[in-house]
Amino acid sequence: MTITNEDLAKALRPVAPPRVIEDVYTDDQHERIMGVLKRQGPWPTITAHHFDTVEELVATTSGPMREGEGPKLTLDDIATGHFRGYLAKGSTCFYPELEDCFYNEKFLDLARDYWGAAYAKPTHMLFNFCGAHHSGLNPHLDAVQFRGIRLENSPVWLANIMGKSGLFQDHIVKMAQVIAWWYRGENGTFTYWPDGPFGQPKVLEHPLWDKGVVVQNEVMFHRGDPVGRPEDRDIPGLKHRSMIGYEADRDNWAITTDGEVIRRYQPEETRLLVHWSAELYSDMEELEKSLDHSDDLTSDMIFDRLIADMKNRGVKVDQPSDPMHDSDFIRSLIATYTIAPTTDWIPKPAA
Ligand SMILES: [Fe+2]
Repeated sequence: MTITNEDLAKALRPVAPPRVIEDVYTDDQHERIMGVLKRQGPWPTITAHHFDTVEELVATTSGPMREGEGPKLTLDDIATGHFRGYLAKGSTCFYPELEDCFYNEKFLDLARDYWGAAYAKPTHMLFNFCGAHHSGLNPHLDAVQFRGIRLENSPVWLANIMGKSGLFQDHIVKMAQVIAWWYRGENGTFTYWPDGPFGQPKVLEHPLWDKGVVVQNEVMFHRGDPVGRPEDRDIPGLKHRSMIGYEADRDNWAITTDGEVIRRYQPEETRLLVHWSAELYSDMEELEKSLDHSDDLTSDMIFDRLIADMKNRGVKVDQPSDPMHDSDFIRSLIATYTIAPTTDWIPKPAA
């Protein structure tokens, strides 16, 4: 028995309806962000940031492969012309000229208000940058985190299962994002499912210029819609290791593979997304718990709770000796809690 659609729909709704906002950044902030993009590139593909092998990609999304279960695809097969760079990580801003964008009073206010929480801290900031390119249509969730189970110490598939199970809601790390777009080309909208995966999706429509949303993307399905006109989306020669960089002499953007230009975009053809993320604490007690780790989940606690729940649901499950690495057990978990795609870089499954 798996969890029901109603269970899923209940768990996969943001804490509050997404808020659409205009004039997210000032023109001056936007110009400084673009300055960093131009000066500090070239920038790698989104997949290159996160994976060196297809095995890693599969393990992130669906758990580890069984031995001998070789990948049928290479990372080049699933490369898309979408590029990413980090502007801040671990609450640390990488570029002094962007500190007002990252330690952003307006965003902190928006995030606190969205959650009705007393405290917030910015955690990371990244951009996605592209022109017309092929991309999948799969909606996804961003990675959810729990006190004690974080991206730094746990595989994403485990956090996904915990999120889907609904058994660990008391330990969820409250997060909110402010995401903004600048794009004047065709398509390239943002679609999201504020009423759960079975509800009506909404689309953030054009004009996507300095327009954004306040969201909780780790529990709300969403996707970036394909960018550009369909006939402009081919990028012959695109590889996992391709990069995008600014060519000052031509004032355009070039995708290169091993230093060779394979595609150029005019500035007005490019789409910029800036993603700012914060953690929230309802009150001082919750902040203290997070700081002193007195209420962290441990992997023993997690697997005990999951196994008890599976048994309750009538799933036949043997006590695994090494649950974190037992492929059969992990597959059984995934089947019970019907893991769904979590990342932007998942290839579209064969129909
Ligand atoms: Fe996402």
